Amino acid sequence: MSKPAILVARAIFPQVIEKLQQHFEVEHNQADASWSREELIARLQGKVGVFTTGSERIDAALLAACPQLKICANMAVGFNNFDLAAMTAAGVLGTNAPDVLTETTADFGFALLMATARRMTESEHFLRAGQWTKWSYDLFAGAEVHGSTLAILGMGRIGQGIARRGAHGFGMKVLYHNRSRLAPQLEAECKARYVGKDELLREADHLVLVLPYTAESHHAIGAAEIAQMKPTATLVNIARGGIVDDAALAQALRERRIAAAGLDVFEGEPKVHPDLLTVPNVVLTPHIASATIPTRMAMANLAADNLLGFLLQRKPLTPLNPEVLA
Ligand code: GLV
Repeated sequence: MSKPAILVARAIFPQVIEKLQQHFEVEHNQADASWSREELIARLQGKVGVFTTGSERIDAALLAACPQLKICANMAVGFNNFDLAAMTAAGVLGTNAPDVLTETTADFGFALLMATARRMTESEHFLRAGQWTKWSYDLFAGAEVHGSTLAILGMGRIGQGIARRGAHGFGMKVLYHNRSRLAPQLEAECKARYVGKDELLREADHLVLVLPYTAESHHAIGAAEIAQMKPTATLVNIARGGIVDDAALAQALRERRIAAAGLDVFEGEPKVHPDLLTVPNVVLTPHIASATIPTRMAMANLAADNLLGFLLQRKPLTPLNPEVLA
C-alpha cells in the first residue's frame, strides 16, 4: 500500500523529516525558500497533511483548492494563520504545538523585558560605535525591574510563566488582564492580581503582551492605550504582530511618551515598520522567543506526532477543532 502524501512547508530538523518519511511520502521545503501561496497550493495537490510553521495562511480559498487535505499541523502555539472556522467547515483538522515552549518563551519574554528596561542593545550600539569615552552618573540609566509593577496582558501558560519569574525571582508586583480570570490557586501561585485593562495600562512599569492575535486583539495597544501608560513604562510584545499598532508605537517612542519597547513580533513581519528601525529606545528581535534547539525540536516533534497520530490512528495529540474527529 502506498504511503499517504504530506507536505512540510518549511525546512525543519532532518531527524523530524526522517521520522515522517517512515510513514509518509514527504515533500519538503529543503531549501527553505519562501513559497508563494500559488506554489504552496500547487505543492499541496494530492497531499492529505501539511506541516506548517505559522507563516502559511490556511483559509477557505486554500482549502477549496486542496480538497484532499485532512490535517494542518502547526509548529507554533499560536494559530492565527489558520481560519479555524473554515477548516472545521471543510472537515480539516488543525493542531498547534502548546506547552513544550512555555518555559523557554517565558524566559525570553523576561530577557526582553530586562534588555528593554536596562537599555542593553542601545548601550551596546553606543559602545560598538566607539562613543564610550567616560563614566557618567546617568549613562544609559534605565528603569528598575526588581520590585516594580509587572503588568501582563494575556494570562495563558506563557503569561503565567512570566508572572512567576517576576513575582518569585524579582519581587515584582504582578497585575494581569485576561479574557477570563484565573482560578484562585493559579492567581496565588503567580502572586498575580486581576485588574481591568485600563488599570493595567495605568499601573504598569513593564507591560508584557502574551495574548493571542484575533480580530478583537488587533491593535489592542495603539495610541490611545499608550497614552494611558506612564511615560517611564516599557512595553514588551512577544505575542503577535498586529496586537500593537507599530506606527503609533514608533511615534510614542520617538516622543518619549513611553520609555522603551522590546519587540519580538511585528505587523507584516518579517518586514519591520521603518520608524521602529530608527528609534533608539527599542530592542528588536526576529520572532525568536521559542528559539532554543531543544524547544524547537520539541515543537517540531509535536507537530510531526500530530500528523502521525491523526493520519495513522485518528488520534492527534493537540487538536484545535476536535469536532472534526466526531
Ligand atoms: C510562536 O510565535 C508560536 O506561536 O509558537
